[in-house]
Amino acid sequence: MLDQVEEVAAQANAELHKISSPEELEAWRVRYLGRKSKLITILRSLGDVPIEERRALGARANQVKTNLEALLEEHKSKLVSTSHQKLESQKIDITLPGEPQQIGRLHPTTRATEEICDIFISMGFQVAEGPEVEWEYYNFEALNMPAEHPARDSFATLWVDYRTDSGKMPMLMRTHTSPMQIRVMEKTKPPLRVIAPGRVYRYEATDATHEWMFSQVEGFAVDKNITMADLKGTLFEFARRLFGHDRKCRFRCDYFPFVEPGVEIAIDCFMCGGKGCRLCGNSGWIEILGAGMIHPEVLRVCGIDPEEYSGFAFGMGVERIPILRYGIDDIRLFYADDLRFLKQF
Ligand code: FA5
Repeated sequence: MLDQVEEVAAQANAELHKISSPEELEAWRVRYLGRKSKLITILRSLGDVPIEERRALGARANQVKTNLEALLEEHKSKLVSTSHQKLESQKIDITLPGEPQQIGRLHPTTRATEEICDIFISMGFQVAEGPEVEWEYYNFEALNMPAEHPARDSFATLWVDYRTDSGKMPMLMRTHTSPMQIRVMEKTKPPLRVIAPGRVYRYEATDATHEWMFSQVEGFAVDKNITMADLKGTLFEFARRLFGHDRKCRFRCDYFPFVEPGVEIAIDCFMCGGKGCRLCGNSGWIEILGAGMIHPEVLRVCGIDPEEYSGFAFGMGVERIPILRYGIDDIRLFYADDLRFLKQF
């Protein structure tokens, strides 16, 4: 029996070192000092032990019990102090003032795009979006600009090599949003009223009114009996809603291979009031969009019969809108990442 007492003492000691929670400690107490534990059972049955063994066994068993009780108390206070330390280290001062959050804002180009789209949506147009890396077919060929067509020069192009298992295929960064006319018309049949906002890229030198990357919103309508009067009415209404009734709007003939006839729309320069300055290139006008009646060839390429249907299309530079609205004198400010500029919107 004495051996059993020693065994209990050794086992209890070894287990106690591994205990790290009050729950485990309580289980340890029940196991080694509880009413049904081996040690207490031995102490209770001391009366049945022969007299010559009883004294030694009783003394040792009581000593072990006192020891284990002392160890239990010691371990208990150790656990309490570690959990205290833990709490102490996690303490926060809830009376300290919070850190101010930096709230972002929409980029002026995004705001202008949304504003333009909202006006056309209210006129019944639907929004479509397409890829910025585009096939030559959609950017040029289907828009009546076959290879070697001189009009391609006005869209200085950034070319991209698309690598496949069978070799390199030329792709490009779309130079305008007009490819969206083809992408929509080859899939959807008239009547159509669509706007397509997005980024475009041109390989050209920058100046106060030209960036190499900028945004456009394309718009087009295709139906029976669409005329130039529909184009003028829609765009005049758009300009009035965006710039107010006082601003002057100029329609002039222009050439784009994918429209016939083609027009250019300009707004009088806010900076010089039409007298001529650096911003308007001394012309008194700032061009905001190109437009026209969709060329019959473009309709035909998309499987739409030009004898039955006609349509108008336009494409505008988005940054030119806030430039006119807020009197910003350099388009390059939009993408220079200068927060002093961007925070003003
Ligand atoms: C086009 O891009 C034609 N796709 C527009 C069009 C669509 C015509 C449908 C007919 C029918 P253009 O290159 O003129 O056209 O560009 C249209 C508008 O984009 C311009 O009026 C101008 O506001 C803006 N823009 C053109 N180049 C730049 C540039 N480098 N930086 C900033 N804005 C530009």
